[in-house]
Formats: sequence, structure tokens, C-alpha cells
Amino acid sequence: MTSVINPPRDPNTLSNYNNFLTTHTSVNFNIDFKKKTIGGKVALTLQSITDAAAKEILLDTSFLQLKDVVLDGKTPKWELLPRFEPYGSALKISLEDGVQYGKSVQLEMTTETTKECTAVQWLTPAQTRSEHPYMFTQCQAIHTRSVFPCQDTPDVKGTVQFNIESALPVIASGLATGVKDLGRSAGGATGTKLYTFEQNIPIPSYLFALASGDVAKAPIGPRSVVATGPKELKAAQWELEESTEEYIETVEKIVFPYQWTEYNVLVLPPSFPYGGMENPVYTYATPTMISGDRENVDVIAHELSHSYSGNLVSNASWEHFWLNEGWTTYLERRLQAALHGEPHRDFSAIIGWKALEDSVKLFGDSHEFTKLVVDLKGKDPDDAFSSVPYEKGYTFLSYLERQVTKEKWNEYIPHYFTTFARKSLDSYDFKANLLSFFASDTATSKVLNDVDWDSWFYTPGLPPKPLFDSSIVDDCYDLASKWETGKFDPKQEDIEGWSANQVVVFLDTVQAYAKPLDNRATQKMGSIYGFAKSQNVEVVSRYYQVALTAKDDEVYKPTAELLGNVGRMKFVRPLYRLLNEADRALAVETFEKNREFYHPICRNLIEKDLFGKGIKS
Ligand code: BES
Ligand code: ZN
Repeated sequence: MTSVINPPRDPNTLSNYNNFLTTHTSVNFNIDFKKKTIGGKVALTLQSITDAAAKEILLDTSFLQLKDVVLDGKTPKWELLPRFEPYGSALKISLEDGVQYGKSVQLEMTTETTKECTAVQWLTPAQTRSEHPYMFTQCQAIHTRSVFPCQDTPDVKGTVQFNIESALPVIASGLATGVKDLGRSAGGATGTKLYTFEQNIPIPSYLFALASGDVAKAPIGPRSVVATGPKELKAAQWELEESTEEYIETVEKIVFPYQWTEYNVLVLPPSFPYGGMENPVYTYATPTMISGDRENVDVIAHELSHSYSGNLVSNASWEHFWLNEGWTTYLERRLQAALHGEPHRDFSAIIGWKALEDSVKLFGDSHEFTKLVVDLKGKDPDDAFSSVPYEKGYTFLSYLERQVTKEKWNEYIPHYFTTFARKSLDSYDFKANLLSFFASDTATSKVLNDVDWDSWFYTPGLPPKPLFDSSIVDDCYDLASKWETGKFDPKQEDIEGWSANQVVVFLDTVQAYAKPLDNRATQKMGSIYGFAKSQNVEVVSRYYQVALTAKDDEVYKPTAELLGNVGRMKFVRPLYRLLNEADRALAVETFEKNREFYHPICRNLIEKDLFGKGIKS
């Protein structure tokens, strides 16, 4: 049993999870591609963690069509409270007698998603370049509430049973337990089937995930398959089969054995708004990862690492998101270093530091969202999303590692993940746990007490810059400085034998120079180095950023084209910002044209970026 949490530490939920905890969720849904809805019955098992004085259950909902509410077989008094932005409408269920401490109630609701649902994207056959429609959910951070009523907070964890009817194959964030033909047909060719899954490890609401479409599967390791469109399957299998099991075995050595039985990857259509999403059992990944050169599979090292940080051990609220992403970035880099050598850790950290600098510049260096621990009261966690939790979090953990020595830190890693497995924690729990682990080691205790914890947690802007081993990128810096002179004659050989990530460092360095290149220079760079035609989106999107900054109009149209083919926010948002500065009319036209292509989360954020409804324009 989870202990009493009082008062709630998550400000981004309207639920009263300090009175009740969801211990199990059973969803019985029908995926209706014609109506573009997910609907059916959801049953929550809610355990009282206070006494019978609590006379209501409050759940999160957002834009749901709610029909019936049944509590332990009876109809209670219930209402949807007025919408409270950005958190949705609380569902209030009145309890006449309250529920005794420790007792559970069964709450069954009939619910359906609506057009305003922010978690689901419905794709037409044309959008997936196939004969079938497609749908997928993206629930992190607070979008599960737009799929079904729940305690939408990472501070509550429960097991999940999925019973999903669909005319097309279904993927979920649980282990598959069966497929049953229902003997009726829906939407034409394919018969509706019932797909069942179970997730017996308690998970927070944001890890609820569904996808359905014409997907096929192929093995990529002894406990792993990749799922994607049948035409894309071979390429996806090739990209991932070499590294997946190797990654799993390596992270197992750093932490402890993998807990989720299977580690599978679903490669989504191009509008998937993230690089990857660590849905348990099935990582969701961007198709830009399938670049044909195995150069972008580090996304998998990252999402796999979330099987420990995030999925097993979760941040208690989005204010402590760095515990998810900083720890994951840390594990990801330890994993890469174990496999490819120590310099690769800093290679990746150097790219990360540039992303951190960009985020700090964009927000402003005294902005709340540049702190490690942020205040999200009244805020939408999507607005706070940036490289800060990843890179400031990584920098902090690396700093702690150096302070206590790597040898001792290596012992702490499994201790941390064992202590908090199946639980949620905040930054103060982490600090207390680390201090107590080393309590009997006087020298280390002293070092840890000397850490300026408050400053790490609450000082905005960049942290002190660590010294990086730049051996892999020195050539990239050298070449960039030649371009900085403005009088450089490039040759194809300049970048011969470079990995895509070395090119990324080169472009990042050029982009960071105070004085932009002139457009003749960027045109030469694009053609002589082949960046303008690169198939690697990490490369081509950065090249476009450099050229857009130089107001090189040769890239305006290709940028607009890329913006119609890729929906990953990491690429889309900076490109829209720069295209907007270079040619606002084209930026607006491109957005209007591709509005339906983007996932609702991405669409909302571009809208804020372009039309200034958000924090930054
Ligand atoms: N969990 C995140 C994605 C996310 C964060 C979704 C916040 C919704 C809200 C995922 O693990 C992630 O960090 N993805 C990265 C990939 C990476 C660092 C390799 C991304 O999408 O860029
Ligand atoms: Zn992540």
C-alpha cells in the first residue's frame, strides 16, 4: 500500500489523490476510426487513504463525453465542474457516507473522447501513405485526462488491464495477453477484434498508451520486436536489430535486470511529435530515427533508460521532471560510454550543452523554466518543456558523481532505483536518499553536505560549465572556426569520415556564432558538404537553421517542405521560429497548410509560437 500523501504535491491535477488512490484501472474501449473516437467503459479501483470524512472523489477530465457513472453498483450524484484552464473539468462524485481508511470502491464510467481530445491523433490513409487509417495517443504530460477520467498525476501508480476493440491491430503499454475475433466487421475489410493486454507493474497515468493501425512486427532481439507499417518494416528492423539487445544488457549492468519482460519499439508515422516516448513494453519512436545508417538509434538508448528512470521510478510531479529526464539522459550517456568508450559520453554531453544554452537563451536566463525544480502552479507542463530538465539534470548528476567519485556513485545507482521502484519521488526525497546512503561514510557525507543544493535546484540560467573531453569534436570546432572568418574555401574532404553527430556539432557551433554567416556561404556549405540534400533530419534541420539565420532564401521552400513531412517538435518549433523571422507569410501559410498533419500538442505549441498566445513568440 502506498503511504498517505498529504497535501498533494502535484499542482497539475484537479484530483483529490490525497484522499483516494487509483490502484487498478480497467479500460474497455472501442476504437472507432469512422467517428474518430475512443469510447467505452473504464473502471477505477479507488482506495481510501484518509478516513470516511472525505465526501467526494475528484478526477481529472478534459473534453470528454461522459455518460454513466456507477459506484459500487449504484448511481452516485456526479457532475463535471466548470473548465479550469489548463487542467480541464474536474469530475466530482459525491459520497454519502465516505469510505473507510484502507477500503476500496469500484468506479465504473461510460466515456468517449471528443474532437477536442489533445492526446490522440487520427490519421487518414493518405497521411500514413497506406490504405488504412491510423491512431495513436501521446499522454505525457497531462493528456490522459482527455482519454478517460483518471487521477492524472505521476504521483499515483496502478496496474492496468486493457480490453480494446479495433478493426486494426492494437499496441498498448502492457503485455499482450490475447486477440479474439468478435465475428463482426467494422469499417470494411478487416473484422473487429478484441485485443487484450495487462500491465502488472503499477504505472502512472501518463504511461497509458494506445495505437492502432496497419502494423506488422519483426524481431529485433530475444525480447524485442519492432512494429511499423508493413512497407517500412524491413528498414526499421535493420536499423534496430544490431543495438537493441546490446543496449538492454548494458543498462542492466549499470542498474539491475530489466523489469518489463519485453522491450519493443513502435515506429510511428512522421507526425509523431517527439523523438521517442517511453511507453512501457512499447517505446514509441519517430520515423526520423530510421535513417538507413543506424546513426540515430541513440533515441532507443534514451527511451530504454526510462524503463528505470521515469517508468519504474517516477517524478512525483512535473515540477521535478528533471528526475525523469536528467536521470535518463545520465543513464543513456553511461550506456553509450560503456559501449563505445568514455569520450562518447562527453560527445553527447557537448551536443546537450548547446541545446541547454539554446533553451536558456529562448526563455531568458532568469526565467522560472530554466530552474531545475520549477514552479508549475497554474501552468501547463507542455509550456515548460525544454532541454533544461535533460541537460541541467544531467550536469547536476554528473557533478554529484564527480563529488562522491564514480566508484561510489556506481553503488548508489542501483540503490536509488531499488528504493524508489514502483514509487514516485520529488527532488527532496532524492537528496535525502543520497545523503542517507552515504551517512556512515564521513568523507562522502561531508562532500554531499557541502553541495549547494538550493542553488542547483532553484538558480535560473546555466549551471557552471563542466570541462568536457572534446577529443571527438575538436575537428568540428576547427572547421567551424574557419567558417567564422568569412573567407573560407570549403571542400568536400573537410568532413570526410565524419559521423552525423560530428556534423551536428559543427553546425551547432556555426549557429552559435554571434555574427551569422552570409547567405553565399551557407549556399556553398549546403551544396559542397551535401547538407542541403541530407536524409538525416538532425543534420538537414540544423543546416536549415544556419541558412535561415543567414536569410538564405534557397532554403525557405525546402524548410516549408520539411515542415510538411516531419511533425517532431524538436525540429518543427525552431524551424517555424526562424522561418517566421525570415518570411512570416510563408511560415503562416505552411502552418495553415499542414495544420491537420500535426499532432494536437504540436499544433497548439506552434500556434503559440507563431501567433503569440503563449509565453514566447
Ligand atoms: N518522455 C520524453 C518525451 C516527452 C517529454 C513527451 C515530455 C511529453 C512530454 C522522451 O523520453 C524524450 O525525452 N524524448 C526525446 C528523445 C531524446 C532525448 C533522444 C525527444 O523527443 O526529443
Ligand atoms: Zn526522455
